[in-house]
Amino acid sequence: MTGFTGADFWDERYKQEAYLYGAEPNDFLREHAGLFGPGGRVLSLAEGEGRNAVFLAEQNCRVQGVDFSPEGQAKALGLARARGVAIDYVLADLTRYDMGTAAWDGVVSIFCHLSTRDRPPLYAAIRTALKPGGVFLLEGYNAAQLSYCTGGPKDVDYLTSLDMLVEAFEGFEIILARDTVHDIREGLGHTGSGSVTQFIARKLG
Ligand SMILES: C[S@@+](CC[C@H](N)C(=O)[O-])C[C@H]1O[C@@H](n2cnc3c(N)ncnc32)[C@H](O)[C@@H]1O
Repeated sequence: MTGFTGADFWDERYKQEAYLYGAEPNDFLREHAGLFGPGGRVLSLAEGEGRNAVFLAEQNCRVQGVDFSPEGQAKALGLARARGVAIDYVLADLTRYDMGTAAWDGVVSIFCHLSTRDRPPLYAAIRTALKPGGVFLLEGYNAAQLSYCTGGPKDVDYLTSLDMLVEAFEGFEIILARDTVHDIREGLGHTGSGSVTQFIARKLG
């Protein structure tokens, strides 16, 4: 794989000492983290340098991050150590990763940008992997982000589609589904007004 999508690309970006997206969690996740409940088992996709997993562990969730960047994994485990919490972190390619069946109270996807071809199987796997009552939460840049120069992939094929999400999670309770523009300041990686899709859906029991 090349460009924005390969593990080498991300390792190169994460090699610097600074946290590319900062050490604080994503605002949308922070706002809705109560949905996972204390003690909930939460899987965080494309976890990167650990800011979201560490935050969830601080909320007493049992967290597993998954990402294909060894540099991201090392920084995430370092951040967890520094903040005195435990996280699991699996190195894997999400296009081939088995999330299990009815295994998770929550699945989180923050700025996880897979191709249009790879997203439907990922969403199908999330449907299967959630326990009944489990919650899927996503924030990702959408196609309108191409007009902003504040972060995210420059190829529309990797940008989030609300329509695709709504179709993929048919039969779930849709708690929130919107395209919105808001200020996103997360390290040097996300630097201002950005166009995102936000989505929360609960698997019915
Ligand atoms: C924009 S970063 C977001 C990191 C983190 N979610 C955050 O918000 O700080 C995108 C992440 O997706 C990961 N990623 C991209 N494609 C992946 C794939 N196919 N399998 C696993 N991880 C992937 C990258 O390694 C990178 O850490």
